[in-house]
Amino acid sequence: DWIMGDYIEEAVAKIREQVGDEEVILGLSGGVDSSVAAALIHRAIGDQLTCVFVDHGLLRLNEGDMVMEMFAGKLHAKVVRVDAADLFLGELAGVSEPEQKRKIIGRLFVDVFKAEASKLKAANAGSKGATFLAQGTIYPDVIESGGAKSKKAVTIKSHHNVGGLPEQLGLKLLEPLRDLFKDEVRELGVALGLPRNMVYRHPFPGPGLGVRILGEVKKEYADLLRRADAIFNEELYNFVDAASGKNWYELTSQAFTVFLPVKSVGVMGDGRTYDYVVALRAVQTSDFMTADWAELPYALLKKVSGRIINEVRGINRVTYDVSTKPPATIEWE
Ligand code: XMP
Repeated sequence: DWIMGDYIEEAVAKIREQVGDEEVILGLSGGVDSSVAAALIHRAIGDQLTCVFVDHGLLRLNEGDMVMEMFAGKLHAKVVRVDAADLFLGELAGVSEPEQKRKIIGRLFVDVFKAEASKLKAANAGSKGATFLAQGTIYPDVIESGGAKSKKAVTIKSHHNVGGLPEQLGLKLLEPLRDLFKDEVRELGVALGLPRNMVYRHPFPGPGLGVRILGEVKKEYADLLRRADAIFNEELYNFVDAASGKNWYELTSQAFTVFLPVKSVGVMGDGRTYDYVVALRAVQTSDFMTADWAELPYALLKKVSGRIINEVRGINRVTYDVSTKPPATIEWE
């Protein structure tokens, strides 16, 4: 609509003024905020923006290709894809404690991003390289990092964030979404031409599948989990609630699959199986501080469990998580 059009024009002018003829780098995660920030900045300064997409090997099925297709393919933005899966999985080998896993993933992410930033600088010998780091910080993040919420006495989970990155890199910050709420960021994303289903996605944690594989992270587990989770998501989209006309992806705030590294006995055909278990998690919440488990239709659960067990060899049991937050949390780690 024309109001959003005006907003975009204004935001574009501001970015151009702030950046001038300098260069900007941005860490693309595939999440809503960094994607919308990238699309907006690209609209303003085109090739003066370079996006760095770190694939830590803990992304959802086809996520990496989808991000590349959207930004490099459709928007024609400069995007560097860093395949760091071996590095991340290597450093995570043998580590099962959740906080330690989170810290390793956060640290590696910063390392990889820094290395990529200096590589880009070296490659453009003539220029002085990027002088700005762009981030998809939105208004609630601004409040949270300065406000009362961060003064919690106990850290339940150390969140993946890149807080200290600009100083470490000696870069100026560019945060064009700082004044916007999530809903506004989504509207902006649609107006900038990002697909609606990407802009209205559920949140995905920075450490990715690293916190959805309980205990030690292994590639084998990640591959099984990705396939199971893709089935769950597909069926959430397929199942439409007759009363509201909405599908169950829209009717839940977050839904995903958790990999449990325990084996249980099953029977398939006339043989015995001894395979892994996954848990389905689906919640409804307005602020993610408290959450209810979603009352998914039995027919949906039946379809999902049947498909996962039949299609993902290596998983022979599916459970549904019926825990509220608190006392449980939304993610299992
Ligand atoms: P919990 O599990 O604490 O999750 O109930 C609340 C919300 O936060 C998300 N989450 C994260 N998001 N980096 C993120 O960007 C993280 O490290 C992280 N850990 C949890 C979680 O998916 C849920 O939406």
